Amino acid sequence: MKAQLESILEQAQADLSAVSSIRELGDVRVKYLGKKGELTTIRKGLRDVSPEDRPAMGQLINDTVSQLEAALTARTESLEQAMLEEKLASETIDVTMPGKPLAVGKKHPLNVVLDEFKEIFLGLGFSIAEGPEVELDRYNFEALNIPKDHPARDTQDTFYISENVVLRTQTSPMQIRTMEKKKPPIRIIAPGRVYRSDAVDATHSPLFHQIEGLVVDKDIRMSDLKGILELFAKKLYGEDTVVRFRPHHFPFTEPSAEMDIQCYQCHGEGCRLCKGEGWIEILGCGMVHPHVLEACGIDPNEYSGYAFGIGLERMVMGRFKIDDIRLFYENDVRFLHQF
Ligand code: DAH
Repeated sequence: MKAQLESILEQAQADLSAVSSIRELGDVRVKYLGKKGELTTIRKGLRDVSPEDRPAMGQLINDTVSQLEAALTARTESLEQAMLEEKLASETIDVTMPGKPLAVGKKHPLNVVLDEFKEIFLGLGFSIAEGPEVELDRYNFEALNIPKDHPARDTQDTFYISENVVLRTQTSPMQIRTMEKKKPPIRIIAPGRVYRSDAVDATHSPLFHQIEGLVVDKDIRMSDLKGILELFAKKLYGEDTVVRFRPHHFPFTEPSAEMDIQCYQCHGEGCRLCKGEGWIEILGCGMVHPHVLEACGIDPNEYSGYAFGIGLERMVMGRFKIDDIRLFYENDVRFLHQF
C-alpha cells in the first residue's frame, strides 16, 4: 500500500509538471482527488482493511493527499505567476507611440467673423451693447421714425407677438435703448439675432444676425462714418479692399447710404458672385435722423451721430465663399470643421 501511494504521488507530480494551464491543472486534481479519483478510490478501500491496520493506513493516505494538495497549490501559484509575467510583457507601454487625437470642437464660422468684428471695433473705442430679441413695436419701429402706416414696415415681414410686441426685425432698436439710457458721447456696437417671416432659401432665413453700430457726440459728420467703415472693411477683407457709398433711404437716418465693397472675386470686372455688378453691398448706414435723437431726449442742435447696420451672415458668406445660408444653422460637423 505504501509503495502504491508513493507511485501515485510520483505520477501526480509528473502530471503536474506537464500541465500548462489552470484548466489542465483542474483535470489533474480530478484524476487523483475527484469522486472517482485514484486516492479517493484507495480511501474507499480502507473499509476492507483490518481494524488494527486501518489508522496507520488512513494516516498514510491523509499524508499523501496533503502532499498532493500542497503540490497542486504550488503549481497553481507558479502557473498564475507565469501568466501574469506573460501578460505584463505583452502589455508594456510603448511611450514612443503617437497619442490618439482628441476630437476638439471649433468656433462656429459666424462667431469667427463676429469675434474679429468685435476686436476691430473694441480697438476703435466702441463698447458692446445687448438687448432683447422680443421687442416693443415702439423700439423696433416707432422711435426709429417708422410709424404704423410707413411702407418700410412692409419690407420687414414682422413676427408679431401681440399688437405692440414683435420679434425684432433689426438690431436698430438698440440705438434707441442705448440713447435712452446713456447721454453722449456714445460709441457702441450691438450684435444679435433678428427675425423676419421670410421663406427659407439659399439666401434667406427667418432667423439671422445683424450688427448695429451707433456713435453720437458733438460734431459727428458723414466723413467720420465713411472713415470708420472704410477702415473696418480693410481690416476685415484686406488692405487692398475698395469701398463705395451709394445714396439710399432709411427712415432713421438722413442722409442714408449703402456701402459696397468691390467684388473680391473679380475685382470689379463683374462675375456670378457680384451678379455682374463688380460690387457687393455689405451694409446700410447714415447720419442719425433728428427725429430719432429727439425721441430719445437728445438735442439735435447740440449733438449729431451716425449709425450703421450689417448682416452678419452675408459678411461671413462672402468671407468664406459659402453659397447657402442654411449651412449655418444645420450644424453639420463636416461643414463646421472647415473654419
Ligand atoms: N436696420 C437696417 C435693416 O435692417 C439696416 C440699417 C441701415 C441700420 C442703416 C442702420 C442704418 O443703423 O443707419 O435693413
